[in-house]
Amino acid sequence: MVAGSFTVGIITASDKGSRGEREDTSSQVIREVISRIGGQVEAYAIVPDERELLKEKLVEFSDTLCLDLVLTTGGTGFAPRDVTPEATRDVVERLVPGLAEAMRLESLKHTPQAMLSRAVAGIRGKTLIVNLPGSPKGVRECLEAILPALPHGIAILKGEAGECAREANR
Ligand code: MTE
Repeated sequence: MVAGSFTVGIITASDKGSRGEREDTSSQVIREVISRIGGQVEAYAIVPDERELLKEKLVEFSDTLCLDLVLTTGGTGFAPRDVTPEATRDVVERLVPGLAEAMRLESLKHTPQAMLSRAVAGIRGKTLIVNLPGSPKGVRECLEAILPALPHGIAILKGEAGECAREANR
């Protein structure tokens, strides 16, 4: 793999999408935005909004495929079947609240509805998992908010960047 690049998995949580009743344009936005910082999408799945199925896919992408970054889209709101944050919390070992905070902070500049997002981010092994909202607009706004910090965070997880303090002071 090219230096500075990293592998990405996309999981779309959508009942309708999983039945083929809705085109998944949000994952296309993820592909476009993440490629700008060297993200190479190697796995993709559409899963219905079921906690156990989402957990299984998150574990497979982290433990079996050993992806560096897993981005989910959808299922972060208040609807009864929105369970992506719960599935993510079930599988991560360490939370990364700053990423979710940054996404909400930035998103609030676009819409007050941003505070309705229950998205979480966390680390499982060497994989960073980040929840994004379901709409293509929300995906773009949230992903662009965290984009500047992702390469360094991923490099640390992969063991490629050790001197955090020095990096941060640059
Ligand atoms: N974040 C941004 N940046 N832009 C948006 O338009 N929509 C919000 C929020 N986050 C939005 C956003 C809305 S309306 C909801 S309900 C929540 O994300 C959850 O979305 P989801 O259930 O599709 O994941």
